[in-house]
Amino acid sequence: MSADLSSHGASITLKGLTKRYGGATAVDAINLEARPGEFLTLLGPSGSGKTTTLNMIAGFIDVTAGELLIDDKPVHSLPPHKRNIGMVFQHYALFPHMSVVENVTYPLRQRKVPRSERQNLVHEALKTVGLADLGHRMPQQLSGGQQQRVALARAMVYSPRVLLMDEPLGALDKKLRDSLQLEIKRIHAELGTTFVYVTHDQDEALVLSDRIAVFNDGRIEQVGTAEDLYERPSTVFVAQFLGESSLFHGVATGETDGCAVQSLGSTLRAHRGEVASGEPATLMVRPERIRLLPIDQAQPAGNSVRGRVRQEIYLGSARKLAIELADGSQVLVRESAGDVSASRPGDEVWLTFRAEDAAVLPADPGGAATAPDNTPALTAN
Ligand SMILES: Nc1ncnc2c1ncn2[C@@H]1O[C@H](COP(=O)(O)OP(=O)(O)OP(=O)(O)O)[C@@H](O)[C@H]1O
Ligand SMILES: [Mg+2]
Repeated sequence: MSADLSSHGASITLKGLTKRYGGATAVDAINLEARPGEFLTLLGPSGSGKTTTLNMIAGFIDVTAGELLIDDKPVHSLPPHKRNIGMVFQHYALFPHMSVVENVTYPLRQRKVPRSERQNLVHEALKTVGLADLGHRMPQQLSGGQQQRVALARAMVYSPRVLLMDEPLGALDKKLRDSLQLEIKRIHAELGTTFVYVTHDQDEALVLSDRIAVFNDGRIEQVGTAEDLYERPSTVFVAQFLGESSLFHGVATGETDGCAVQSLGSTLRAHRGEVASGEPATLMVRPERIRLLPIDQAQPAGNSVRGRVRQEIYLGSARKLAIELADGSQVLVRESAGDVSASRPGDEVWLTFRAEDAAVLPADPGGAATAPDNTPALTAN
């Protein structure tokens, strides 16, 4: 008989959740909800509070202020093992002196699951992570990827209603990461457990998540599906953290339809944006939404700006160009292989884009942290 590891995922609710260390605030009054069975990813740069948030949910660290509910019940006073949560860490925290089977059996023994049921559950968990044949090995006889699978089996073997993972693939090479990502996605679909997953890798977040919460400096900037965040970022930080963006800095001006920015001597219009007239603002367009035209053509109608091609990268399926604007800042343009313009490094060009593809966002006061000197690196992505 095969055991069933599926669970009804629990909801997790954070209300004003805060963690302070002395005078420093690691997590600053965040509000967030993971829906039952959801794959929710916490994405953000180093030090933005992701691990601290996960550890508060797990019960490894105390909450300074705010509420933490699992299935609408406060869990502040429950120790970690009473919260019915499984956890996987970045570094495979296996017991080195125990075999694979013993490692995965451990949480069942801790929870006093009868011996007669343990074997089936352990077998099912190892089968789910593709390690059914390696149960007798010791951890040091396994590769990094295999060890991480054991950690995953150990976290799911008692059918917790929530699985928390803190950069579980962070220590693995790219190829292994890619294949394990797909496996984690499959396991999530099979189990029905609520997953809260921490990463600072945007591609990983896009592959795995139902929704993503973008962290910045102890706060949440935006929560949404990958499409929400990519197509409709609400801040410059989110636009830059998820995918690439081209930014035009200036001052917002009033428009009846949408919003506009006075930048580089032009009025650049966007269909989205709510920055008050006169406030510093940034117009954001995705690089694949900008078209280049030769400078000897008439200035295109609609949004257009002059620039000079500084650099290009050939990417096979696409070409990426860095364009310098009159104020010295640079923006990126991405042309797909089937639709490449004649522009070459050194050429002067018109950049043009549609108002429906642009958004006016509040100027990012802390932008320097993520956008060093506002010059996007021309990298091969
Ligand atoms: N025990 C602690 N004492 C003091 N400060 C701490 C402690 N733990 C974390 N911090 C601080 O809290 C902030 C958030 O840390 P956290 O580990 O949650 O970041 P993170 O988003 O997980 O980063 P990373 O991607 O590097 O793992 C950081 O500024 C960190 O220095
Ligand atoms: Mg961390």
